[in-house]
Amino acid sequence: MSARTIGVVMNGVTGRMGYRQHLLRSVLAINAEGGVPLSDGRRILLEPVLVGRSEPKLRDLAERHDISDWTTDLSEALADPGNLIYFDAQVTHARVASVTKAIEAGKHIYAEKPTAETLEDALSLAKAAKAAGVKNGVVQDKLFLPGLLKLKRLVDGGFFGRILSVRGEFGYWVFEGGWQQAQRPSWNYRAEDGGGIILDMFPHWAYVLETLFGRIEAVTAKAVTHIPERIDESGQAYAATADDAAYGLFELAGGAIAQINSSWCVRVNRDELVEFQVDGTEGSAVAGLRNCRIQHRSTTPKPVWNPDLPATERFRDQWQEVPDNGEFDNGFKIQWELFIRHVLEDAPFPYDLAAGARGVRIAEAGLLSSAEGRRIELPAAGTEEGTP
Ligand SMILES: NC(=O)c1ccc[n+]([C@@H]2O[C@H](COP(=O)([O-])OP(=O)(O)OC[C@H]3O[C@@H](n4cnc5c(N)ncnc54)[C@H](O)[C@@H]3O)[C@@H](O)[C@H]2O)c1
Repeated sequence: MSARTIGVVMNGVTGRMGYRQHLLRSVLAINAEGGVPLSDGRRILLEPVLVGRSEPKLRDLAERHDISDWTTDLSEALADPGNLIYFDAQVTHARVASVTKAIEAGKHIYAEKPTAETLEDALSLAKAAKAAGVKNGVVQDKLFLPGLLKLKRLVDGGFFGRILSVRGEFGYWVFEGGWQQAQRPSWNYRAEDGGGIILDMFPHWAYVLETLFGRIEAVTAKAVTHIPERIDESGQAYAATADDAAYGLFELAGGAIAQINSSWCVRVNRDELVEFQVDGTEGSAVAGLRNCRIQHRSTTPKPVWNPDLPATERFRDQWQEVPDNGEFDNGFKIQWELFIRHVLEDAPFPYDLAAGARGVRIAEAGLLSSAEGRRIELPAAGTEEGTP
């Protein structure tokens, strides 16, 4: 069957995520494979329309990847009826205005997380998209990581028994700039530019915890700025006003407790940049980006505390690797394919802007908890007007 082409307006493609994960690893990779297959056998090719602020950067990107359509004028791209979808991977603080414009132009919306800087704005976007009747989605890429898919397999298979706790460790050292260039953009470290690790990472933890383990009923967090001054892309020192580490406690429905450390100021002594240890009555698992190891209750050793003796066992060797049992594709690409099917044939897509607002709600609760030094309860949806 013949392939159909749809236009996808892509804003923020000169950035790290927009370029690597969304343009290269998703949209162009999908086209290279012949398009997104629909249930009737047709294939859908994606024609990216690059949008950004810098003509030279866009031209260079377009030439490098043989893309014919690019513009610095978002309205012009939105005016073309062939462009069905608007995608946004801009810096967070630029998202709401552009997404709102795209909703008004009747485009289906797909956006990076967080969908906004505040719950109020995130909810407005979700409501506006619903009122306009446009399909909408938010990136929840971590759900498609091989390590977390294996973890989900263990949860669904009843491996853990009753889940007691989840301990997450995320982070790595982000250089301050100066003597070694920072490997993340400087806006991440300025609160006034939408930065901060809570706003960046809590939306991820929200959907990971709620998809795998249960609703977050309360959040307690401490946000810290460990490094108060950094050097930006142009070599200038700036005040790092945003949190660069957050120590969070999430109480889950059913009684499990999740603790997640998120930090750009830690050195990695782990197998992967993020790891979650899940302990249950029947067994435990440690899942990272790609791998997952388990220890069943029947093979659990019986350590005895004795500081007078050297460690008698190699505890890490007592875990068993969970097999792949399949091939894992890029998570961003999988979600793009799901979204295209959602737009064109109404296939299910639970990761909508309301889900995005839920992530912002958890981030906002974390920031509030830290600012006021208290535990924030999150009543279930429907019990509080307007909250997701
Ligand atoms: N899903 C994930 O795992 C993940 C990971 C990192 C970042 N993100 C999200 O993706 C978005 C982009 O992050 P990034 O790391 O790619 O950032 P980046 O700084 O590398 O890219 C930002 C993009 O926004 C554009 N932009 C538009 N208006 C701007 C303005 N006023 N100031 C500066 N840049 C502006 C830039 O030109 C660039 O194309 C953020 O919202 C971030 O939270 C998601």
